[in-house]
Amino acid sequence: MMPPIQAIMIGAGQRGGEVYGEYAVRHPEQIRFIAVAEPDVERRQRFAARHKIHAENQFDSWEPLLERPRSGQAAFVCTQDQQHVAPTLAALRAGYDVLLEKPMATTARDCRQLVAVAEETGRQLHICHVLRFTPHFTQMREIIRSGELGEIINISHRENVSWWHMAHSFVRGNWRREEDSAPMILAKCCHDLDILIWMMGQNCTRLSSVGNLKHYRPENAPEGAPQRCLDGCLAAETCPYYAPFIYVDLLPLWRNYADTSKGFPRLVTRAQQRAPGLVKAMAGVAPSLRQISEYRGWPISVLAQDPTPENLMAALREGPYGRCVYHCDNDVVDHQVVNMQFEGGASATLTMHGHSHIEGRSTRIQGSRAELQAIFGYGGAWIEVNQHRSDHSIRYDTSAEETSGHGGGDERLMAEFLNSIQIDGVHFLESASPLSTARQSLESHLMAFAAEEARLDAKVVHLAEYRR
Ligand SMILES: NC(=O)c1ccc[n+]([C@@H]2O[C@H](COP(=O)([O-])OP(=O)(O)OC[C@H]3O[C@@H](n4cnc5c(N)ncnc54)[C@H](O)[C@@H]3O)[C@@H](O)[C@H]2O)c1
Repeated sequence: MMPPIQAIMIGAGQRGGEVYGEYAVRHPEQIRFIAVAEPDVERRQRFAARHKIHAENQFDSWEPLLERPRSGQAAFVCTQDQQHVAPTLAALRAGYDVLLEKPMATTARDCRQLVAVAEETGRQLHICHVLRFTPHFTQMREIIRSGELGEIINISHRENVSWWHMAHSFVRGNWRREEDSAPMILAKCCHDLDILIWMMGQNCTRLSSVGNLKHYRPENAPEGAPQRCLDGCLAAETCPYYAPFIYVDLLPLWRNYADTSKGFPRLVTRAQQRAPGLVKAMAGVAPSLRQISEYRGWPISVLAQDPTPENLMAALREGPYGRCVYHCDNDVVDHQVVNMQFEGGASATLTMHGHSHIEGRSTRIQGSRAELQAIFGYGGAWIEVNQHRSDHSIRYDTSAEETSGHGGGDERLMAEFLNSIQIDGVHFLESASPLSTARQSLESHLMAFAAEEARLDAKVVHLAEYRR
């Protein structure tokens, strides 16, 4: 049996620590983290303890770690959007194969530099386009490629970000300001643009775009709303964005799970919505229910390392997530539409907005022989194909078996990345692998930059010119 891949972690935050780090804890035969770079002391110590990393392999930033001779085969770069490029270039030059979080970079020039250095050094550089690894989009791609739909005429794809996820990440949270992170069409939808090209097997030739920040602005605040929800807001009982409702009661999260799952998970999350005390009592005899009654994951893990109700309330009193959504310093859009034309002549629209009641992507594909409709939600997913001639309808359950994030995408992404690295450093990337090389990811990122330019300048962008 092959020994586990030895890896280094750069940025042990939500993605690095909770997603990829926890994968290593579940699969010690596949991967072992042997060094960590993380400036936040609590996070660094927690990651080091969880992976038994020696003190001499713990660093408060990536530079001293990457100045040392290479130790291990793989580097995970999971820093925030604007801190991807420098550590990735250094890791490639030090000889690591790299798994880099999306977006690969926040400018076209930086994206191109990453592609060039990955190709020069001959190292693997893969971008975490998690949707490619889900049973849902894998199945949809197979259906398109099988010819079952006939010729693809039009795709209408929606990224329905829920109102509370929007508020969490793009109004109160890390991705609220373009200057500090990225335009929302890049931060949220590089996945969607990537999945469209990946499914179609064609590039986009031209696009246009409209959108703006319509709702989360001071003029829409309830009358007299203070800067923070806990400072005596008169709308506490009625405002959906009242922070304790989102983070302490967690009702929107359970509602999402209940509405998009089925069977036992649906029953339990419904019960958690209506009678959390009952689920807590039942967890005494059925420990698996503690995953729900003692939930500690996203989004509350972002507010506090130990998200007890007391720590959460402290975070809401002082931290960014307790701010009134109408009094934040956000500037990214809350809705945007991109119109696209593909090489083969098909058209597509991507609608992204942050006002959905239930989170999830939805897709409708018009083919010359059949129509496809699909929902990809938090707790479940399905695809339905209706054939024109027979009126025969086929329904696929594309829910992930694993409970991992992004509809099973996080788990499979890791497995594929690790499979692609051979222990002696020889690359082994199957041509059918959904892994997205830097060169492949460049295309979806260029589309996002082009869409932003089209939106801001009210123009049509021709991708051939843009690529040049
Ligand atoms: N693939 C996906 O679907 C997906 C989903 C969510 C987020 N992301 C992306 O993942 C990235 C990380 O997001 P997150 O939510 O984990 O953020 P996070 O803020 O929780 O984690 C980033 C970590 O990087 C650390 N860091 C900062 N400077 C550093 C340095 N000099 N050296 C080493 N570490 C440093 C921070 O202290 C922090 O702990 C972002 O780019 C985000 O857009 C991708």
